[in-house]
Amino acid sequence: MQEKIIILDFGSQYTQLIARRIRELNTYCEIYPYNKFPADDPGIIGVVLSGSPYSVNDPQALQIDLSGIRRRWPLLGICYGAQYLAKTSGGTVESSDTREYGKAHLVWHDDADPLMKGVRDNSIVWMSHGDSITSTPEDFINVGSTADVRNAAFRISGEETWGVQFHPEVYHSEDGLKVLGNFVAGICGSKQDWTPASFIESTVAQLREKLGDDKVVLALSGGVDSTVAAVLLNRAIGSRLTCIFVDNGLLRYHEFEDVLADYEGMGLNVIGVDAKEHFYANLAGVTDPEKKRKVIGKGFIDIFDREAHKLKDIKWLAQGTIYPDVIESLSITGMVIKSHHNVGGLPEKMNLRLVEPLRLLFKDEVRRVGRELGISPKLIGRHPFPGPGLGVRILGEVTPEKVRILQEADHIYIQGLRDWNLYDKVWQAGTILTPIRSVGVMGDERTYENVVALRAVNSTDGMTATWTPLPHEFLAEVSNSIIRKVRGVNRVVYDISSKPPSTIEWE
Ligand code: XMP
Repeated sequence: MQEKIIILDFGSQYTQLIARRIRELNTYCEIYPYNKFPADDPGIIGVVLSGSPYSVNDPQALQIDLSGIRRRWPLLGICYGAQYLAKTSGGTVESSDTREYGKAHLVWHDDADPLMKGVRDNSIVWMSHGDSITSTPEDFINVGSTADVRNAAFRISGEETWGVQFHPEVYHSEDGLKVLGNFVAGICGSKQDWTPASFIESTVAQLREKLGDDKVVLALSGGVDSTVAAVLLNRAIGSRLTCIFVDNGLLRYHEFEDVLADYEGMGLNVIGVDAKEHFYANLAGVTDPEKKRKVIGKGFIDIFDREAHKLKDIKWLAQGTIYPDVIESLSITGMVIKSHHNVGGLPEKMNLRLVEPLRLLFKDEVRRVGRELGISPKLIGRHPFPGPGLGVRILGEVTPEKVRILQEADHIYIQGLRDWNLYDKVWQAGTILTPIRSVGVMGDERTYENVVALRAVNSTDGMTATWTPLPHEFLAEVSNSIIRKVRGVNRVVYDISSKPPSTIEWE
């Protein structure tokens, strides 16, 4: 049975980070909405209460009855979670005059407390709250304070319940991982054996049991998620998995051929479908960005459905859905900034059962599993690429000629990043074909051609991003090379906008 920590989400921006940090401790955990605690799960070894955008004193503050959890499992309340524990036990939480935000120094009062073993006295912790616990019931033991906050860490005597006002999950909290490690290993007794290898072993076994002799179809995109999902399924059921890789005419330069060759090298059973003309025909005359996305998404579903129907006896559709998408759909606060569902509607249309072997993994975990499965570093390290591909990087109508121009320019840029050892230092890079034409001079001739923009950003999840200051010498070389070699381009600009307020893609 899978042992796990349950994190109850009260809507904090840091909830996913708590999960990632606990998993870094090789301990499996899952996030549940604050009011959906899975009490019947026999694998639970401990519970964490997250922070929240609310104050516990707000009338709309999120409430749950903790009586079924306290004393049954070890419990750690973080920030709002700690204040909620204090308030519901008869303590007082007040909005503090000296709001402590950012770094503070934590002084521990009890060296023998199991939560603070090995944590340095006076170490930096990250505070982010407007409230403070000002009085606590008698059975609360104060175990740590900062200059402004007396009850920065407490334990409730007679039970394995702790509260910390600071955020141990945030990287700025120097010994934060130690605190979390003390909780999950020392207090909850995690065996800390959840690793990429153990994930692969248990997932392959579960897939075998779930799928039996059934046949499965999966859409490959060339990206990390679908590739790792395919290799895992291939391990479990071998050639009963068929993959379909569609060339929508909006892939990068030579990508279809290169990626198809990689897949075949990995022993996957792949059908490559050249559907360029279908997509170009449907995109003719379409200029609105959202309409383009819809046309491309629908085109994909139609082609995939047509090809899958040529296969016999398929029972399952596999998808490379990952945990952030799952959490997003369970989200309690609805504070999602933007989401991209390229193939929404595919499962319904195809009337197949869904299998999603990566649905509980974060992106960096998918990469680690991919490496463990022996997938090439080049494939694992690929930059994210949007589902609608170059379709959202060609502003205005998409035509085969514009695709050619963009592919050639983008190829020079991406190859340049690789040659200059910059590719892995950038989170995502791409080239945009603008509808602007400008005057130039080549030889003795006046030219009147397109402007392309180069974009490179650094990010962790694409939700926010900063533009990357690439070296000027590099930009000069790439610009020069594009203008000399790509027919149809006579000017290159570099995008220096961050997200927000801009987005990564131009459309
Ligand atoms: P934005 O432009 O929203 O992009 O800042 C954030 C991340 O999402 C990718 N992106 C998409 N991915 N379908 C996708 O699968 C889409 O329609 C789509 N639009 C943007 C973008 O490349 C970046 O990584």
